[in-house]
Amino acid sequence: MARTPLIAGNWKLNLDHLEATHTVQKLAWLLRDAKHDFADVEVAILPSFTSLRSVQTLVDADRLEVKYGAQDISAHVSGAYTGEVAGSQLAKLGCDFVAVGHSERRQYHAETDEVVASKTKAAFDNGIIPIVCVGEGLDIRKAGDQVSYTLAQVDGALAGLPADRAKDVVIAYEPVWAIGTGEVATPADAQEVCGAIRGRLAELYDAELADGVRVLYGGSVKSSSIAQLMAEPDVDGALVGGASLDPEEFAKIARFRAHQVGL
Ligand code: 13P
Repeated sequence: MARTPLIAGNWKLNLDHLEATHTVQKLAWLLRDAKHDFADVEVAILPSFTSLRSVQTLVDADRLEVKYGAQDISAHVSGAYTGEVAGSQLAKLGCDFVAVGHSERRQYHAETDEVVASKTKAAFDNGIIPIVCVGEGLDIRKAGDQVSYTLAQVDGALAGLPADRAKDVVIAYEPVWAIGTGEVATPADAQEVCGAIRGRLAELYDAELADGVRVLYGGSVKSSSIAQLMAEPDVDGALVGGASLDPEEFAKIARFRAHQVGL
């Protein structure tokens, strides 16, 4: 099955809504050849909650092909949960995607696999595609346990998720040691774990479902490294942090095919 690559930019805690609007406009202009730039690749950005309404307005008014979503979602439907943002609120803002279980959420907000599973469910309950983030820290990588560690996170995040939802999930393999460090995983490192994730999906569900699920790589992705990563059979896109804040650089990443020539 041909999987449509997904290049998603996680803006993290950066850009106010005016800067976000400007950045989306610039990105859309750089990728203005919609027939060419969006024919076989989905491009998405994940701004702060405070920018979502502005981004929605811009994307709708100018019919931009850029997709967007949030960086987090509440596991709760509504109620006394101060500071939380519900899936229904994100859906009203037209979010296509939401990142779930990013390592920064796991690390700084103590999100467990159970919480990640609840948020994955909350996303699907509201028609939003969760980008489930998994990946090992440096100590685990040094011990050579990256595959088993990451697969346990996949098991946790997808616990109880029926096949008719799992077929649409996106999984992002983001080794923590590669995030924001400039130390991108080698294509072989990325392939090892992304391939293992697909293998686990085949075990949890079936081979056909696993074949259709997009598995992304994230961690210091740049335009100079994307083509080699995308050449791996089980890497279906990228979750880009720092480099997605620069529209020129992010557009080059989205156009990875242009620099795959000569690999
Ligand atoms: P960097 O691309 O800045 O390393 O961040 C990766 C990431 O965490 C995306 O979610």
